[in-house]
Amino acid sequence: MNDNVRNLPKRSDPVLRVIPGPSDINANGHIFGGWVLGVMDQAGGIVAGRVSQGACATVAIEKMEFIAPILLRDIISVYASLERRGRTSMGIRIEVIATRERGQQEVKVTEGLFTFVALDEQHKPRPLPER
Ligand SMILES: CC(C)(COP(=O)(O)OP(=O)(O)OC[C@H]1O[C@@H](n2cnc3c(N)ncnc32)[C@H](O)[C@@H]1OP(=O)(O)O)[C@@H](O)C(=O)NCCC(=O)NCCS
Repeated sequence: MNDNVRNLPKRSDPVLRVIPGPSDINANGHIFGGWVLGVMDQAGGIVAGRVSQGACATVAIEKMEFIAPILLRDIISVYASLERRGRTSMGIRIEVIATRERGQQEVKVTEGLFTFVALDEQHKPRPLPER
């Protein structure tokens, strides 16, 4: 059994739950890394929009790690939380968990730290609102 399967910490609700489709499979029979990056970006964007109360853009992706493959029929849960709050930027930690075997197995498949910047109407950096 994969080491990532056991001892997953208890989390709050996922920001997104999605199921990859047959067109998302690469030549190895696993799900494309680009597909999972896209869903992580969407989940991070949702949290960044909530924190900043407005438009945001992804400015950087750090510490991206593909830990285990995603398989067809996995149910993908994307967890995202604010890790760092800057003047206009937000560091958002994103973790992806695959549920398989009809809910019997959970595997942490991907993790990354994304930086989003709050934008004003001219698409320039905008200070985050007061907490
Ligand atoms: C987002 C954007 C407006 C920022 O412009 P910029 O001139 O770099 O702005 P600044 O230098 O004032 O930086 C703004 C904030 O982003 C942070 N930042 C900028 N580049 C960064 C990088 N590569 N990594 C981490 N943080 C970064 C800065 O530290 C600053 O944070 P702070 O205000 O919390 O201290 C510009 O880079 C942009 O439009 N990028 C394209 C975004 C995009 O199209 N994303 C993909 C689709 S959503």
